[in-house]
Amino acid sequence: MKALVLAGGKGTRLRPLTFTTAKQLIPVVNKPIIYYVMEQIERVGIGDVGVIISPETGEEIKEALGTGERWGMEITYIPQDVPGGLAHAVKTAREFLSDSPFLMYLGDNLIGQDIRPFVEKFDNGSTEAVVLLKEVENPAMFGVAEVDEQGVIHRLVEKPKDPPSNLAIVGIYLFSPKIHQAIGKIKPSWRGELEITDAIQELINLGCRVDSHVLDGWWLDTGKKDDLLEANRVVLDEWIEREIKGQVDGASKVAGRVKLEEGAEVINSTVRGPVAIGRNTKVINSFVGPYTSIGDDCLIEGSSVEYSVILDGANIKGVERLEDSLLGRNTRVDCVDQNRRVLRVMLGDNSEVEM
Ligand code: TTP
Repeated sequence: MKALVLAGGKGTRLRPLTFTTAKQLIPVVNKPIIYYVMEQIERVGIGDVGVIISPETGEEIKEALGTGERWGMEITYIPQDVPGGLAHAVKTAREFLSDSPFLMYLGDNLIGQDIRPFVEKFDNGSTEAVVLLKEVENPAMFGVAEVDEQGVIHRLVEKPKDPPSNLAIVGIYLFSPKIHQAIGKIKPSWRGELEITDAIQELINLGCRVDSHVLDGWWLDTGKKDDLLEANRVVLDEWIEREIKGQVDGASKVAGRVKLEEGAEVINSTVRGPVAIGRNTKVINSFVGPYTSIGDDCLIEGSSVEYSVILDGANIKGVERLEDSLLGRNTRVDCVDQNRRVLRVMLGDNSEVEM
């Protein structure tokens, strides 16, 4: 079995951050989202992995993933000239995929569970596809599957007004090579993209069996700022352990599950976990509250930061309360007006804010 990771796309919903960074490289708890994807693929032992890249961010993705050696895999990069949709990405990868069955994984999806049982279902069954599903409260906002008691999918609908179930389509799929035949039959949707849901529907219409697997654990699509902050919260909550490699002075208090990397310093401050603080970052006369990830080489001084993701090289000074925020690399927020109490922002790389 091969794997196909989709790391192209436009990332419009995470602008301005995605003007300068690939969406899949934005860190969650100081680790690029796509690394979690590669770790999942490593765990199921797939060694032949294709990665779809765009002309805009392809080089950056290549730099971050390299040959794939670190996950015991060999990566083939597949340029997609336009973000023509998920099925278009599969079509672009046709030569790499050859006639192999494959795992398709959207490079911005995070799930809190091993995908092994899902892969086993495909290996043991006589099915042309298995689609990973997750029960959600607001199915009208997702692609939704109509399934029978055996979990066989009969119909897929995009953002239905009247959802046939509460089972949303997660961005992880298993396909036999039959999917290429189905993709060959579909036309672009109203938004001009070749949709994978249309291709799977076509597979069903061709009389093929399409199974589902319902995920028990969490699923986070990191497409928007709030999703990303929530992903950061969940990963901190579930996976972070206390590990203090940096320096904490006598006037500071570091409580709970805090990961403080080498070279980081906490001076006259309080850090309350779960929190991750990267290498050589300084926290001075500040409070860093729960569910915050701060990257490498940052300075937090005279400020209070909570429930936020701060990328490498950011400088935050004199901000009485920064919360629910996403700050790009090398941003500078300097608050001189002490009457401003709460700040909620999303800033692209290299932004500067002075108040
Ligand atoms: P989406 O989040 O559906 O699309 P997008 O990345 O263009 O983002 P936005 O809606 O904010 O503009 O894409 C899901 C994943 O698939 C994501 O990792 C990007 C990738 N992708 C491709 O590789 N090629 C494509 O043609 C598309 C549409 C997405």
